[in-house]
Amino acid sequence: MTQQSTADAREIVFDHVVKTYPGSDTPAVDDLSLTVPAGEICVLLGPSGSGKTTALMMVNRLAEPTGGDIRIGGKSITDLDPIELRRSIGYVIQQTGLFPHLSIADNVATVPKVLGWDKKRIKERVGELLELVGLPVGEYGRRYPSQLSGGQRQRVGIARALAADPPVMLMDEPFGALDPITREHVQDEFLALHERIRKTVIFVSHDIDEAVKMGDRIAIFREGGRLAQYDTPRTLLKQPADAFVARFVGADRGLKRLTLTRLADLDLAPVTAAEGLPDLASDATLRSALSLMVAEGTDAVRVLDASGEVLGEASLDAVRKAGAA
Ligand SMILES: Nc1ncnc2c1ncn2[C@@H]1O[C@H](COP(=O)(O)OP(=O)(O)OP(=O)(O)O)[C@@H](O)[C@H]1O
Ligand SMILES: [Mg+2]
Repeated sequence: MTQQSTADAREIVFDHVVKTYPGSDTPAVDDLSLTVPAGEICVLLGPSGSGKTTALMMVNRLAEPTGGDIRIGGKSITDLDPIELRRSIGYVIQQTGLFPHLSIADNVATVPKVLGWDKKRIKERVGELLELVGLPVGEYGRRYPSQLSGGQRQRVGIARALAADPPVMLMDEPFGALDPITREHVQDEFLALHERIRKTVIFVSHDIDEAVKMGDRIAIFREGGRLAQYDTPRTLLKQPADAFVARFVGADRGLKRLTLTRLADLDLAPVTAAEGLPDLASDATLRSALSLMVAEGTDAVRVLDASGEVLGEASLDAVRKAGAA
């Protein structure tokens, strides 16, 4: 595993932030207050035009707030030089925005070059990052973006955003263009990466399932750039603040909650039936367990550990109770 130097993650605070674009009567972001704790992933979720991208772009001053304040690690962004600020923030935009005429290695090296790192250090860093996102430099470094798949390009986008080891990452629908299977894979990779590098991440999404999976907390925006609810996925799914949020998270919010718990987290009962129960790995979610019971017409699954050892049995009732907790 590649060793990753880690700058301290920093808390991000939106303090009554307003953004009204010139020529517009109504704000794109209206009185936004929320705190993203250091090292967490905050997902901004909401319908098109609800101000998610605008909220994100104010953090690195690609859009200037017209009211309120944003603080990163306790410092107001208005006191920081915009160029310096942007260098301390990794920014991943939809479609990755790679430079088509630069090789993959040179794309990743962009910010370190601007920062004037020496060649050896840049080369090492590029090698380390491409390894980290599963694209070894020997095989991929000299290719151009057009010679990669969409998912690979997005991984390069993430590597590039991480290059100067920024404490903060802004990601605007970074996986939006991917097919569902690649998307799930890249999401898993990013979560595994985040476990190791613990940046403070603001992540924009349209997709409630992605938000529930990726977010430590989710901010739901409504039309007019207003914050409808800011909570952990569990609370959001259990207690939507109002009808708008309930509609947005979907009528199957009970099922979505089952994705937040794994079989390994249950107190398993000893296996009673000698045969006939379907097997499921302990890292499967309660939703997968329920789905398997429905598909197989059983009211329990047998839970196996990674080596195939039987750990016990999870009943429909146990799944339902744990899901309701
Ligand atoms: N540069 C701009 N000038 C004027 N109005 C803008 C500008 N950028 C965005 N807006 C307006 O601000 C509002 C919020 O836009 P924003 O891009 O933040 O929404 P979003 O939530 O990211 O939407 P989407 O999900 O479609 O990407 C919209 O009404 C949009 O038309
Ligand atoms: Mg947007």
